[in-house]
Amino acid sequence: MSGRLVGVGVGPGDPELLTIKGLRALREADEVFVPVGDTGEVGRAEATVREHLEEGRIRRVLFALSDDAEARERNWTGAAREVSGHLREGKTCAFATIGDPNVYSTFTYLARTVREAFPDVEVETVPGITAMQDLASRSGTVLLEGDERLALLPFTAGEERLREALGSFETVVCYKGGSRMPEVLGVAEDAGRLGGAVYGARLGIPGEEVVPAAGMAGREGTYLSTVIFTGEVEGLG
Ligand SMILES: C[S@@+](CC[C@H](N)C(=O)[O-])C[C@H]1O[C@@H](n2cnc3c(N)ncnc32)[C@H](O)[C@@H]1O
Repeated sequence: MSGRLVGVGVGPGDPELLTIKGLRALREADEVFVPVGDTGEVGRAEATVREHLEEGRIRRVLFALSDDAEARERNWTGAAREVSGHLREGKTCAFATIGDPNVYSTFTYLARTVREAFPDVEVETVPGITAMQDLASRSGTVLLEGDERLALLPFTAGEERLREALGSFETVVCYKGGSRMPEVLGVAEDAGRLGGAVYGARLGIPGEEVVPAAGMAGREGTYLSTVIFTGEVEGLG
């Protein structure tokens, strides 16, 4: 008998940004898993889930986002094996992930590995509020109006990709740029897109920072950093 795997988006950090549907999925699951890095520190998904469920209900699975591709693969396989043990017993397993489970999420890797091993397992997701939406709200930024278009990209895709996006899209959201913030802002300045851009770090978490991106010049950000660029794009009507 095969169980059900549910990826639950728990929002970017503020425990109140977990949806009612997400909370219900967590409460009704036979087992609730949260990813944990190799330092063992409580991650954002776990911190949010802990606000809503008893600690004894939460199972931690090692899911270190190592830079080493082989180590990452080992971690995904290990996590999938652990969750699969419960799925094989026909259980419903919820896996909590920050933001939305279909946006740059650890859940995608887990689901792929589980599906390969157990094609009969049902896989579902419950959407979550993304960091992009939370930053727009906290900074009073309108993301899109009328015919405008939005590009969401990780800075790990490279400077050129950000340059292209800033030259083509009215709104550009940059994830995963924390430690390379001076480079992110350098690209934006060259493209004339720094004015009006907002930077948000640790949204909904102690130590939250929401400031004009220009104020970050020369500073590095944390891993949980997001930048939204809005405003005029030269050459676009
Ligand atoms: C692996 S991605 C996860 C994205 C997430 N699934 C989502 O839907 O927003 C991690 C990136 O999301 C952004 N992020 C997630 N939570 C955040 C927070 N609380 N504050 C600022 N940025 C955050 C950062 O850009 C971070 O580098």
